Amino acid sequence: MNTPLIDPFQRPISYLRVSVTDRCDFRCVYCMSENMSFLPKKELLTLEELDRMCSTFVGLGVRKLRITGGEPLVRREIMTFFRAMTRHLEAGDLEELTLTTNGSQLEKFADDLYAAGVRRVNVSLDTLDEKKFADITRWGRLPQVMRGIDAAQRAGLRIKINTVALKGFNEDELFTLTEWCAERGMDLTWIEVMPMGDIGNEDRLGQYWKLSDLRARLGQHYTLTDLAERTGGPARYVRIEETGQKIGFITPLTHNFCESCNRVRLTCTGELFMCLGQEDNADLRAPLRNNPGSNVPLEQAIRAAIARKPKGHDFDYSRQSVDGRVSRHMSHTGG
Ligand code: GTP
Ligand code: 5AD
Ligand code: SF4
Repeated sequence: MNTPLIDPFQRPISYLRVSVTDRCDFRCVYCMSENMSFLPKKELLTLEELDRMCSTFVGLGVRKLRITGGEPLVRREIMTFFRAMTRHLEAGDLEELTLTTNGSQLEKFADDLYAAGVRRVNVSLDTLDEKKFADITRWGRLPQVMRGIDAAQRAGLRIKINTVALKGFNEDELFTLTEWCAERGMDLTWIEVMPMGDIGNEDRLGQYWKLSDLRARLGQHYTLTDLAERTGGPARYVRIEETGQKIGFITPLTHNFCESCNRVRLTCTGELFMCLGQEDNADLRAPLRNNPGSNVPLEQAIRAAIARKPKGHDFDYSRQSVDGRVSRHMSHTGG
C-alpha cells in the first residue's frame, strides 16, 4: 500500500485539479487576452496519458478529481477520459469526479457526464444580462449557457454557479443573481478577481470588489447563517435563511485559506503546480512519457513535488505593483 501524499506542512493532498486543455470558446476579459495563442497539440497530454496520470494520483490517495481548462468540454473526445475515470468511482477509490465549465457545451454533454458518474458541476457565469455576458466573454452567447444549465439539471446534475465579483460590472446583479439561483435550487459562489495573466491594460485593481462588502450587502437584505461545512474547495459558505440556498465566498486576497489547502493542479502539458499563486512547478510529463512500462518514476516525481509545496500564495493587492502578479493565465492552470 502506497503512503498517501502529505506536504511539508502536514496537509494531506487529496484533491487534484486537472486542466485538460488551454483552449476555450470564450475569452473572459479577466482570464484571457483577445488573441490568445494556444499550445500546439503535441504539447498536450494525450487522453491515455491523462488517464495514467490521474490514476497514479488516485493510487497515491487523491479522492477528488476536478476537470478544468480552458473549457474542458471543448477538448476532443473528452468523454472517453471521463468514462475512463468511472472505474475509480466504481472501485470506491475516487469519491468525486467533477468539472468546472463555462456551460457552453453542457447541452451536448450533460447526459454523458451523468452516465460517467459526475453528480455536481460548477458553471462559471458572471451576469444574467445578454449584452454584458457577450462583453465579458468577448463573444459568448448567454442563451447557449442557459440551455446547458437546463440540460444539466434535467440530467440530474447539481449545479453551483461561480461568479467573479467585479466592481462596476455585476455589483448591480447581486440580488438578481441570488434569486435566479434560488429559484433553480442552485448554490452560488462569488470569487474575488485574482491578478492573473498580462491581460492588456485593463485595470484589475479597479475591478476588485471585496467580498466582505458584498456579504455585508447581502446581510442587510437576508438573514445569513455561517456554515462550518467545506466541500474540499477553498470556499466559505453561508446559508440564506429566506431561500435556503448556500452562498460561497472565495477570498484568496482578503482571507487566506492556505492553511487548509488540500490540492495541487496539473496543467494540460503535465506540469504540476503546487499552488495557484506560485510559479514553482514540476514536470510530470517527462517521467510519464519516458517510462511507458512503469509508474515508479512518475510516483517519485509526484512525491518530490509535494515535498516542496509552499505554505501559501503570493497574491497581494496591497502592494499595487507587479510584485504580487502571476504572469501565467488562469486557463493554463485551470483556476
Ligand atoms: P468545490 O468547492 O468542490 O465546489 O470546488 P472549488 O470551489 O474548489 O472549485 P471551482 O473550480 O469552482 O473553483 C472556483 C475558483 O476558486 C477557481 O477557479 C479559482 O479561481 C478559485 N480557487 C480554487 N482553488 C483555489 C486555491 O487553491 N487558491 C486560490 N487562490 N484560488 C482557488
Ligand atoms: N480571478 C478570479 N477568478 C477567475 N477565473 C478565471 N480567471 C480569474 C481571475 N483572474 C474563474 C472563472 C471560473 C474559474 C475557473 O476561474 O470565472 O469560475
Ligand atoms: Fe474560458 Fe473560463 Fe477563462 Fe472564461 S474564465 S475564458 S470561460 S476558461
